[in-house]
Amino acid sequence: MAKLKVGVLISGRGSNMAALIEAAKADDYPAEIALVVSNVAEAPGVAVAQGQGIATAVVSHRGQPDRETFDRAVSAELERHGVELVVLAGFMRIFSPWFPQRWTGRLINIHPSLLPAFKGLHVQQQALDAGVRVSGCTVHLVTEDLDGGPIIAQAAVPVLAGDTADSLAARILRQEHRLYPLVVRWIAEGRLAIEGGRVRVAGVPAGATLLFSPEP
Ligand code: GRF
Repeated sequence: MAKLKVGVLISGRGSNMAALIEAAKADDYPAEIALVVSNVAEAPGVAVAQGQGIATAVVSHRGQPDRETFDRAVSAELERHGVELVVLAGFMRIFSPWFPQRWTGRLINIHPSLLPAFKGLHVQQQALDAGVRVSGCTVHLVTEDLDGGPIIAQAAVPVLAGDTADSLAARILRQEHRLYPLVVRWIAEGRLAIEGGRVRVAGVPAGATLLFSPEP
């Protein structure tokens, strides 16, 4: 069967992108990384993707008259490569309303907190400041509502005494690298349905959309 063509949008180191590239190497993985787009030419993830033989494009946000013009340029690159699912992986631009509308139901993000807690930036510090005992990451559909689209799956980790934002981020990131390829697989297998604004993942064991890692 044809593999789902995925476009990954990055702005930085691209470790989630690398996890997806790695997962997609398996013959039985139902998706392929058709394109990596970065808005930053020097993003380390661009070189990582190129080193893996993945097509890359740089669309700079600088010098664009407005957000929508940038969004349309990114979208044109994705279309040119036949992308069917857009995966945000540390992409640090806020879209105009046009982009999530253009890719409705085919645009996902990973966020390093258990949404709806701790939206925006510096979320590990937000979690530490709030004194939560559990944090994690969330994969969600992207809508115009920043970090607010329907939740697909989450992974939880403990917050330990003595944690810093960096140590918590590293613990969460290890789970991001497990969760994101899993969710892309489910989407490629056609398992996602949206009912009443909530996501149902068909045919996976009950509870499988929550990973829990007690490992420090
Ligand atoms: C991750 O923590 C992700 O949750 C957030 O941005 C970071 C990207 O890291 N959206 P990387 O570029 O995938 O290593």
